[in-house]
Amino acid sequence: MKIKIAPSILSADFSAVGEAVKKLEASGADLIHCDVMDGNFVEPITFGGQMVKNIRPLTKLPLDVHLMIEHPKTQIKFFAEAGADIITVHYKACQKISPDYLRETLELIKSFGVKCGAVVNPDVAVENIFPLFPIADMILIMSVFPGYGGQKFIPEVLQKIKTAREYAVKSGRPDLDIEVDGGVTEQNAAEIAAAGANILVAGSAVFKSADMAATIEKLKS
Ligand code: DX5
Ligand code: ZN
Repeated sequence: MKIKIAPSILSADFSAVGEAVKKLEASGADLIHCDVMDGNFVEPITFGGQMVKNIRPLTKLPLDVHLMIEHPKTQIKFFAEAGADIITVHYKACQKISPDYLRETLELIKSFGVKCGAVVNPDVAVENIFPLFPIADMILIMSVFPGYGGQKFIPEVLQKIKTAREYAVKSGRPDLDIEVDGGVTEQNAAEIAAAGANILVAGSAVFKSADMAATIEKLKS
């Protein structure tokens, strides 16, 4: 599968996010990854739907909204109407509410005509979300515990990516998008892709680089 790069604006200077988004598009990014944190599901607070609404007119790239929030169902409308193209929600946040909450949230996202995805933390087995493979547009596998950029990739996650791709193939969804988020670098991108991921989130790797375009190109290849 073709590898796509989704730089995270979490690593951008928040006083100049618009400029960063334009620069990412010009540098060959495939999606813009928007990390939404609520201070509850994870410690920090980042931004809400207004940020997505404001960057929407600045780029043609899909806006990939990663909701690290409690009670995600209550927020879907705002992010969908703000112009999100993909919204992903955490298995853990949903499981606290009810066994059906994740499925219901994915269906709610789809009802807005937006693509949906389920996210598993490093300590959540991907088998938990197998039942959602038929309705999900994307599976997001966290390779760090969410909350902060700049953490180290957890290598045990490689096996989980393989398991997810094998099940996607076996269940008739060979082209299912499998995104990996956290600690992706030029050094480990190849093995993450070989394990079966086709979308790589990159925060620090892209923003700390002196040449964004060259880094994105290297991550893709
Ligand atoms: C972590 C976020 C990630 C993060 C990735 O909670 O979900 O998207 O920004 O940043 P790096 O690439 O620096 O690990
Ligand atoms: Zn993220």
